[in-house]
Amino acid sequence: MVAPTHTVSRIRVLPSAVADQIAAGEVVERPASVVKELVENALDAGATTVDIAITEGGRNAIRVSDDGHGMSRDDAVLALARHATSKIRVAEDLVGVRSFGFRGEALPAICSVSELEIETASEDGAGTRVRAAAGAVASVDEIARRRGTTVSVSRLFFNAPSRQRFLRGPRSEWRGIVEHLTAVALTRRDVRLTVSHDGKPVLSLPPAHSLRARIASVYGGTLADRLVDVDDVYGTTHVSGLVERPADVGVGSRRVHIAINGRAVRDAGIVRAAELAYRSTIPAGLRPSLFLELVLSADAVDVNVHPAKSEVRFRDRWGTERVVENAVRRALGTFDAAGTLGRVSWPAPRTESSEVAEVDVETLRPTLPPDDGMFAAAGSTDVDHDAPVDETGQQPTPDVREPVSVPPLVQLRRTYLMFEHDEGVVLIDQHSAHERVLFEQFMRVLECGDAASQRLLFPMTLHLAPDESDAFEANRDVFERLGFEIEGFGGHTLLVRSVPMPHPRFDAERCLRETLAALTGNRAAAAATRHEQLAATVACKAAIKAGDLLSPAEMRALYIALSETKLPAHDVHGRSTIVRLSWDELERRFGRR
Ligand SMILES: Nc1ncnc2c1ncn2[C@@H]1O[C@H](COP(=O)(O)OP(=O)(O)OP(=O)(O)O)[C@@H](O)[C@H]1O
Ligand SMILES: [Mg+2]
Repeated sequence: MVAPTHTVSRIRVLPSAVADQIAAGEVVERPASVVKELVENALDAGATTVDIAITEGGRNAIRVSDDGHGMSRDDAVLALARHATSKIRVAEDLVGVRSFGFRGEALPAICSVSELEIETASEDGAGTRVRAAAGAVASVDEIARRRGTTVSVSRLFFNAPSRQRFLRGPRSEWRGIVEHLTAVALTRRDVRLTVSHDGKPVLSLPPAHSLRARIASVYGGTLADRLVDVDDVYGTTHVSGLVERPADVGVGSRRVHIAINGRAVRDAGIVRAAELAYRSTIPAGLRPSLFLELVLSADAVDVNVHPAKSEVRFRDRWGTERVVENAVRRALGTFDAAGTLGRVSWPAPRTESSEVAEVDVETLRPTLPPDDGMFAAAGSTDVDHDAPVDETGQQPTPDVREPVSVPPLVQLRRTYLMFEHDEGVVLIDQHSAHERVLFEQFMRVLECGDAASQRLLFPMTLHLAPDESDAFEANRDVFERLGFEIEGFGGHTLLVRSVPMPHPRFDAERCLRETLAALTGNRAAAAATRHEQLAATVACKAAIKAGDLLSPAEMRALYIALSETKLPAHDVHGRSTIVRLSWDELERRFGRR
């Protein structure tokens, strides 16, 4: 038993200066967080121009000027008091709050660990200058200035040496600031932004009419040209933005930007969901550039869970991630997502549809039925529209969809199919295209378990190497679901009784041998699961090859089947199945424009 040694209370209320410094720790971690708070205040004030000047990575000075609504003299002083905010009044205002700020914490927190000066005017002419340091107001003066506010923060952490020691070098802190300002530039494209570092102008961004235009002025036109549009609405969720064409992934630095309800956030789950959409289009290990903006109803998301407001909580995280995945996947399935021969990007798809083209060739993708809910797992719909290559070129299954109009096709070098498109010349790699068709067909079979298989009159025997028979055993269930009926025959010998019939030219023995050989090698596949891996390998081995002469009917059937896949422009190894050369580019090359 421990008896109390004294009766004096141990708990003490902290002096407010100490409390403020502790609170500041949550808001002000580094120069970048100061920049973030000041810029957010400027945007909340309705600024159309924000000028940011940084010295020594923000360790020495940070100045943010805006042309927003400014503050009166009283407000300018009050702004430095804790929990003083003009943005909410009662707790209910917090739900769905639209401004960046609402805590009334940022300025007092910053002020408690720096020297701070506010110059502000709510109309041109009479303004106020407030100077403060370490949380205490030193002077309040009348000044002349234009409407707007300039907040200058210098000597960050001058009175908090333990925090100052955690600051990194100017270059590293500057990088953090740039990262944050880039996010602001991408989300608030309506605002003119200028940034300078140590007196040198770094960024000067005019207001931009589109995300693509902002990306071009921030990162350059090359990246902007590598991106395809995402734009989908599911229920009350709107997903829009730009994502990298699979064929270009890995070419340049990776950039990721996610905004939710107008606020840039970090959200690994949303990024992962978008990356899932690239499954089977890019090699494992490569990661695409993503610029995605989500708009959700206010009650579906809480962006204010984190003290720095950089993380979000979704009411239905899983559902939201599926919406993102489906939206990106649909974008990658468009014709625009195909690789291009020229450097110009394909013009945005036309919406006009002529009498001839019942299904616009432009979007070489299946027209999704209107009720194709976003929560339907990829590949689980449309089980009955497989379009295997068939001698007659007819689709054997009666198809309820609108017929695809097929342009005249020419085979080149027994390898490529070429056709004329409204906007250019298009080449299809016949092997890659067929591989994509078969891959999706096999994935449907694996998901719905309805393999068409053919019993062999004479079972075939396969003698395998030990590692090949291990590979078979490890994947036996998947082979069976694909329609192979195989018995072990002692030792490393297999007896194959039935085989699937994906198309008339299918050579089951060769496919099986090559698949097993491929499974023993550890080659990187663009697949996420064992199912996908195997479906991709079998598809590759089962597909028609370069060098196979195709009849006109076969070419037509392949064209139709490809147009009905979800990702027609990409094979299962992350290569292009389609490349296009636009008329624009041709005209440029021939000097016609
Ligand atoms: N650039 C500015 N222009 C006009 N008013 C400003 C500006 N910066 C701050 N203010 C005023 O000062 C108040 C306090 O700002 P502060 O950043 O401390 O809190 P907040 O923005 O309300 O909330 P939060 O702590 O979440 O940022 C704001 O509510 C606003 O009224
Ligand atoms: Mg604020």
